Amino acid sequence: MHKVIFDTDPGIDDAMALLFLHQHPDIDLIGITTVFGNASIETTTRNALYLKKTWNIAAPVAKGLGETLDPSRPHVDWPTAIHGDDGLGNIGVSDKVDVDLDPRPAHRFIIETVRAHPGEVTIVAVGRMTNLALALKEDPDIAVLVKDVVIMGGAFDVPGNITPAAEANIHGDPDAADVTMTAPWPVTVVGLDVTTKTVMTRKLMADIAMTGGERATLLAKISQFYIEFYEQHVEDGMVVHDSCACVYVVAPHLFETRSGAIRVICGGIADGQTIQKPDSRSFPPSPWDDLPSQSVCTSVDADAVLALIAKTI
Ligand code: BDR
Ligand code: CA
Repeated sequence: MHKVIFDTDPGIDDAMALLFLHQHPDIDLIGITTVFGNASIETTTRNALYLKKTWNIAAPVAKGLGETLDPSRPHVDWPTAIHGDDGLGNIGVSDKVDVDLDPRPAHRFIIETVRAHPGEVTIVAVGRMTNLALALKEDPDIAVLVKDVVIMGGAFDVPGNITPAAEANIHGDPDAADVTMTAPWPVTVVGLDVTTKTVMTRKLMADIAMTGGERATLLAKISQFYIEFYEQHVEDGMVVHDSCACVYVVAPHLFETRSGAIRVICGGIADGQTIQKPDSRSFPPSPWDDLPSQSVCTSVDADAVLALIAKTI
C-alpha cells in the first residue's frame, strides 16, 4: 500500500487524478495539500474541499500559501481558458463548502505527516512546488524521511506549454521547483515528454461516465470545458497530465526513465526550463554537479496508462 500526500491545484485534470488516488486499491490517500496555479489558492482549496465532500474522501485538506517562494516574482495569470473561472470547468461550485480544513498550513502538514510515517510517504505533486520547497526550507531533514516524490511538471526533450522553454507547473514557481528537484529525496518527474502522449478521447470519457457511477459522471461534467480547450491542440479529447503522475506510483513499469541531476532555470528568457544532466554523459564542472540523481520519464505506454485510469475511476 502506498501512503500518498497529494499536492494539487484543482484544476480539472487534478480532479481526475484525485479520483484515481481515492479509488485505487493500492493507494492510501493520507492528505491533500493545496497550492495556487490553475486558480487562486482560495479557489483551488475550495475545489479540493468540494471534491472531498462530494466524493466522500476521508483524507484531510490543508491549505497552502497563495504566492511564490520568492514573493517578488511577477504574478502569472490563472489559466481560466483551460480550467474555467472556478477551476472546475464552470460547473457552478458554490463559494462556501461546509467542510473543515486541517488547521495546519500545507507545508506544516507535509512535515508532520512525513515525520509521523518515516520512510513510508510518497508525495505526488501536480501543481507549483511551493509547498514542497517551503517544507524543505523549514525542515530540511524530512528529505531523507520521504519514500518518493513524483512530480507532474517540466519539459525535457519537448517544448514547454506556457513558453517554448517551460511547462506551467514549473514556470509558476521556478525557484520552488529548483529547491524540490535538487533536494536529497528521490524525485521522478512525469513531464510533458510523456503526459502529452496520454490523451483520453471523448468516447473513453463518455464510457467512463456511463459505467463509473456518480463520481465519474461529475468528473465527465467537469471535464467538458477542458476537452473543448484541448481540442485546439489534440485531435480528440484531453491530455490527462496529473493522472499520469498518479499512475506512475502504482505502475512505474509503464514508463521508461533516464537518471541524472535536474536544475531549473530561474529568470531570463528560459525562466522555468527544466534541464537534466544525464548520468550517462560527462561534462566540465557545472551547477549540475554534486546533486542527487533524479529520474525523468522519457516514454510511456499511453494505452496502458489510459486503460488503468479508466478501470480505476
Ligand atoms: C499542468 O498544468 C495544469 O494546467 C495542469 O493541472 C497540470 O498540472 C500541465 O502543464
Ligand atoms: Ca495540476
